[in-house]
Amino acid sequence: MNTQRAADRLAEEAVGLFEEQMGRSPRWVVAAPGRVNLIGEHTDYNDGFVLPMAIERRVVIAADRAAGSALDGRARLISSAEKAPATIAVDGEIRPGEVHWSSYVQGVVAGCREAGLKPGPFEAVIHSDVPLGGGLSSSAALEVAVATLVEALAGRTLDPIAKALLCQKAEHEYARMPCGIMDQFISVLGEPDRAMLLDCRAQRAEMVALDDPSVTVLIVNSNVKHELTGSEYPQRRAACEEAARILGVAALRDATLEGLDAARERLSEEHYRRARHVISEINRTLHAAEALKGRDWQTVGRLMYASHASLRDDYEVSCEELDLLVEIARSIGVAGGVIGCRMTGGGFGGCTVSLVESRKAEAVREALCRQYGEKTGIEAAAFASRPAQGACVLRRA
Ligand code: GLA
Repeated sequence: MNTQRAADRLAEEAVGLFEEQMGRSPRWVVAAPGRVNLIGEHTDYNDGFVLPMAIERRVVIAADRAAGSALDGRARLISSAEKAPATIAVDGEIRPGEVHWSSYVQGVVAGCREAGLKPGPFEAVIHSDVPLGGGLSSSAALEVAVATLVEALAGRTLDPIAKALLCQKAEHEYARMPCGIMDQFISVLGEPDRAMLLDCRAQRAEMVALDDPSVTVLIVNSNVKHELTGSEYPQRRAACEEAARILGVAALRDATLEGLDAARERLSEEHYRRARHVISEINRTLHAAEALKGRDWQTVGRLMYASHASLRDDYEVSCEELDLLVEIARSIGVAGGVIGCRMTGGGFGGCTVSLVESRKAEAVREALCRQYGEKTGIEAAAFASRPAQGACVLRRA
């Protein structure tokens, strides 16, 4: 389906669900996209660089102020992906509770209130076509959509960087996931036809054109999710901090491969390899951004494969299914239209991202899914996406 039509349909469905559930039309409709990271994995929390783009998949929220006083100090949420509705506090003292799908919403509302934005009681329907748990930042898209809704309800906008940071804080405190800043930044700041080179230390984004019609970004969802991400992610983060401490630098951003090798004796094998991934990945990301600017696709492709190998061998966050998808892509090769491929996101399942020649994109998509299905018995889901717009208000009262 045409992607604009898909977006319109998603918003119409959200409006329809709201009307069905609440018996009136929503006064606001907002949207925020998921993301795919082209390169720069597990570098954001090391003060490094990342190169994501927003994708044409989004979380849409249709909402209105609560009718009457039944929802005193609270908001009622309905999610099309969840069986039961949820209620969160919008007034009084708000604290993190047990982690639940509504925790993301609660955390963002709490952060907005701290920033002086008071939404008041509201009712909302959440509807999304970002695959859940697929490594495409469905949770950041939800957080950023909620922050965009609160801005609309409160009649005041936040500084975009403050908005991204507030969403990250919600994820830390209310979902207890110590994520970096990449996902929230790109969901707020994404632009059509541009990827974002983000300096995670300076919190400065440089938009890089990704508008060559002969190249397509293809996302393949392995449709597996190994329940390791939750426990392994904080461990990786802690290992990086420990490696930086041993190396005597503020963050691995400040280390070099030469410095790492000189300190090898002082590091455990594990710390050495984790640090080697991060340091080399930051180099690859900067190199890939330069290559992207020059439309040097061959170099970008080579760096993507190198990134995958490093995530698989040194950082150990890949899995059999992701490795298989990358191997299939590599075997299709340049002759078959694949320029480069790697796992994307936190790892342990989720998606790969490939750069493919546009005129062969459909054949590549078909071959990747077919061969993956034959080897695993699992049906992959694949779609192409152009870099998309960040969060926006689609309808305003
Ligand atoms: C998750 C986190 C991001 C980032 C990636 C790995 O998506 O939310 O902040 O660390 O993993 O690059």
